[in-house]
Amino acid sequence: MKQQLLALVALTLGLINNGAAQSQSPDIRDLPVIRNGSLLLLNNKPWKAVGANVYWLGLGENVLPSPGEPYYPPFHASYPTPGRTSQIMSVITAMGGTTIRSHTLGVSVGNPLSLWPSPNQTNPDAFQPIDWAVYRARVYGLRLMVPLVDNFDYYHGGKYTFLRWAGFNLSRSADERNPQVQEFYNNSKVVNLFKAYIETLLTHQNAYTNLTYAEDPTIFAIETGNELCGPVWGDMDVPTEWVRDIGRFVKELAPGKLFVDGTYGVNRTHFAAKEVDIFSNHYYPVSTAKLQRDLETLASVDKPYFAGEYGWLGNAATADASLPAWYRQIERDPKVMGDTFWSLFGHNVPECNTFVEHNDGFTMQYGNPAHAAQIKIVRQHFVKMSQGLSISADAELPPVACPAPTSLTEVTPLNV
Ligand SMILES: *[C@@H]1O[C@H](CO)[C@@H](O)[C@H](O)[C@H]1NC(C)=O
Ligand SMILES: *[C@@H]1O[C@H](CO)[C@@H](O)[C@H](O)[C@H]1NC(C)=O
Ligand SMILES: *[C@@H]1O[C@H](CO)[C@@H](O)[C@H](O)[C@H]1NC(C)=O
Ligand SMILES: *[C@@H]1O[C@H](CO)[C@@H](O)[C@H](O)[C@H]1NC(C)=O
Ligand SMILES: *[C@@H]1O[C@H](CO)[C@@H](O)[C@H](O)[C@H]1NC(C)=O
Ligand SMILES: *[C@@H]1O[C@H](CO)[C@@H](O)[C@H](O)[C@H]1NC(C)=O
Repeated sequence: MKQQLLALVALTLGLINNGAAQSQSPDIRDLPVIRNGSLLLLNNKPWKAVGANVYWLGLGENVLPSPGEPYYPPFHASYPTPGRTSQIMSVITAMGGTTIRSHTLGVSVGNPLSLWPSPNQTNPDAFQPIDWAVYRARVYGLRLMVPLVDNFDYYHGGKYTFLRWAGFNLSRSADERNPQVQEFYNNSKVVNLFKAYIETLLTHQNAYTNLTYAEDPTIFAIETGNELCGPVWGDMDVPTEWVRDIGRFVKELAPGKLFVDGTYGVNRTHFAAKEVDIFSNHYYPVSTAKLQRDLETLASVDKPYFAGEYGWLGNAATADASLPAWYRQIERDPKVMGDTFWSLFGHNVPECNTFVEHNDGFTMQYGNPAHAAQIKIVRQHFVKMSQGLSISADAELPPVACPAPTSLTEVTPLNV
């Protein structure tokens, strides 16, 4: 069943996965990604995490849902349709990607559609789109990186939500520079609430697979949070002790996961955190000089490095040259375990004639002619980094069916 399914995915998308072609080999989707020094391995072979940020998989903010579907107007929040999620998995696969980083698969607190609308109150409806996304990623053989909290105060919640729940009247707009925001990391009431939330998330059993998120190797990495810092932008002021504490907690619940330091920037004091498997930074715009500095900072540490976000448009001033140069640098340094660009959207499935738009200036839409030249560059890079895909990087961009093929949308849950 699983082999057939994978073969079907491969056939549908015109890809051949060398691993799956041998009937004796294990189903690669059941195997964890592991770390050996600075390398990640899957099935004893080096493995790279390349793909996109798709932040809306658990809860979106860009689509007015059909009448009767859950909607929270103050934040324009709604759940993505199953078809949108399936289609984006097809797109990543066609691009040669292996990985999605997705904020709302892990960060979902503080509004009525969240996993936790209020402290300790779990909303089962919010698990439905997350279960579906994890399951669909698994069907396609993709892997997920999931942050646990956000430094900011967006519709999906973040550190300010936990602070407010613990009685600190703080918001990003008024208090970003207030030293009290550090209570997120050092106040036991906040930390205990955050841990209870992490436990709710990781011990949840997926209705489509019967695996908990902790058990399912599809989620290969858990990140402390998105762009974490202290009261000053870029200060990297995330206490090492907190990183270690959260790392121990996550690894106790989910021993098979890799743990990513989601501090915004590489903080040398965190090298003492043996719980961390992966260090990372974000790039707006892409910068080979900044990447070089980060890799030099990390030179003494035998752990891999990840470019978790970067503006795929490159540098507006040097648009044609900056993205390929950035990719060349990533490709030649074995310590870089991958990269995920910011950010991917698809069609407003079931409406396949409309793309979903987001207003931050970094929305990539596969199939939009205005993005095709850049997408080819991105795809060439993904194909170089991904191993075992016998697709030609230089080929024209393959068409991606919308909606995703029926045979894949109607597949019965995997018997794993
Ligand atoms: C990890 O790497 C070391 C040397 O770099 C090697 O001896 C060992 O076999 C590797 N372990 C795995 C599980 O690949
Ligand atoms: C939430 O649960 C945690 C852990 O069980 C407990 O310590 C805390 O008091 C609870 N908080 C609220 C606001 O119910
Ligand atoms: C919370 O802080 C805001 C200012 O940031 C203030 O207007 C509001 O009255 C405060 N609320 C409480 C309950 O203290
Ligand atoms: C937490 O950090 C804040 C800001 O630095 C500080 O004022 C407070 O005393 C600290 N609390 C604890 C419990 O360490
Ligand atoms: C999940 O468990 C239920 C109850 O044991 C079972 O009926 C169902 O077939 C299982 N589903 C999968 C995908 O294993
Ligand atoms: C790094 O983190 C430590 C706390 O662990 C903090 O004191 C320091 O300000 C941070 N920033 C830098 C640049 O080291």
